[in-house]
Amino acid sequence: MAKLIVSELNVRGRRVLVRVDFNVPMEEKDGQMVVTDTTRIKETLPTLDLLIEKGAKLILASHLGRPKGKRETSMSLRPVAAKLADMLCRPVAFADDCIGEKVEQTLQALQPGDVLLLENVRFYAEEEANDPGFSEKLANLADVYVNDAFGSAHRAHASTEGVARVIARRGGACAAGLLMERELRFLGDELEHPARPFAVILGGAKVSDKINVIDRLLEKADSILIGGAMAYTFRLAQGLKVGKSLVEPDKTEVAKSALSKAGARGVKILLPVDDIIATPTDTGKVNKKGKPVLEMQNRRANASLNLPDDGAGVDIGPATVAAYSEVIRSAKTILWNGPMGIFEDPRFAEGTIAVARAVAEATKKSGAKSIIGGGDSVKALNAAGLGDQVTFMSTGGGASLEFLEGKLLPGVAALSDR
Ligand code: 3PG
Repeated sequence: MAKLIVSELNVRGRRVLVRVDFNVPMEEKDGQMVVTDTTRIKETLPTLDLLIEKGAKLILASHLGRPKGKRETSMSLRPVAAKLADMLCRPVAFADDCIGEKVEQTLQALQPGDVLLLENVRFYAEEEANDPGFSEKLANLADVYVNDAFGSAHRAHASTEGVARVIARRGGACAAGLLMERELRFLGDELEHPARPFAVILGGAKVSDKINVIDRLLEKADSILIGGAMAYTFRLAQGLKVGKSLVEPDKTEVAKSALSKAGARGVKILLPVDDIIATPTDTGKVNKKGKPVLEMQNRRANASLNLPDDGAGVDIGPATVAAYSEVIRSAKTILWNGPMGIFEDPRFAEGTIAVARAVAEATKKSGAKSIIGGGDSVKALNAAGLGDQVTFMSTGGGASLEFLEGKLLPGVAALSDR
C-alpha cells in the first residue's frame, strides 16, 4: 500500500489519536444501552494491541449514530469503553468529551500502553462539517494519527480527514491501522488482478445504489450475478412484467446500458430466471414516516419471467439458486455485496442463505478467495453461521461501496504517503 501503516511507526511514549469506527449496534436493556454486535470493536484489536505493545498512549475517537451535533445519552460511547476493556483485557478510561481542557488534562496522566476512549465526536456539529477549528482542537490531543475506521473513511469529517491534515502539517505521521490496511488490500489490490473465473454477486434494493460498482466491475469480472429487488428494474428494462415489485422505472436506461456494456466486454450478467413472490397487503397501519405498512402474504414460487399483477418479487427462486450456485462454486475469486431478497424475513431468506452456502463451499473446497463487501451480506453470512468460512468480510457499508466504485476515500487520501 502506498500509505504509511501503523506497524511502521515509532510511537513509544507518544500520544496517538486512533480514529476507530465504533458505530456499533446498541440496544436498551434494563435502562442501559448495551452493544449487541462487537464485530467492529473486535476487528480493531490488532491495531490497538500493536500500539499498546509499542508503548504508545492511545486516545481513541469515534462516532456513534447520527446525533446531529447534540449530546444524546443513548449515543454515548461510554458502554463501548466498558466492552472494549473486556475485550482488550485491560482498563479503558473514558472521557465524557472529545475536545477541550478537561480532556487535555486527562491526557497528562496517560502512561505508555494506557487507553482512553473519547466521547462521541458527532456530539459536535463541527465534526460532520469538517470544521478547521474543531480539527485543530482534536489535533491538540496527539502527536501521531492512526486511522483504523475504514467504515467511516468515505466521510470527509474532522476526525477522519481534517485532523489528519493538521497533524501532518505539524510534522506528525498519519498512518493506516491494520484493519484499514486489510480492507484496502482485500477490496482493492486483491480485486485488481483476480484469479479467474471472477464472479461478482450483487443484490439489494436499488440499481442506482450499485450501478457505479457494476460499471467498475464490468472491467474486471467474468460474470455478475444480480439478485434482490434491483433485478426487477433489469426485467422492466427487458420489457417484462414486474407486478408490484420494488422497481426504479427511471433507471431502466441505466440497466439497459449495463447489459449492453457487458455484452460488448464479454462479461456475463446473470439475472434471476425464477422468483419467490408474495402479495403486498395493506395492514391499515402507518410507519414513523407516515407511509402505509405492508405485509407480504401468500408466499409462492413464480417460474415465469413475468410476474402476476398482484405479486412482488421477494427472493430468487430455486432454479436461479441452482444456476447461481454453479457459477459461484466454479469461481476462483468471489465478491459479494447485497442480499438476494428480503432476507430479514425467514420466509424470503432461502436464496440469500443458499448463496452464502455456495460462497463458503467455494472457499473451502476449491480455495476460492471470497470477499464480502460489507453491510447486509455480512449480516446474512453471520445469520447462516458462515461468517468464519469466507476469506474476508468488510466492516464497511457505504465505505465499501464507494471504494468498490473506485472512489478515493477522503479518510485514506489524508494519510501520509510512504
Ligand atoms: C457506517 O456504519 O456505515 C459508518 O459508521 C458510517 O456511518 P454514517 O453513515 O452515519 O456516516
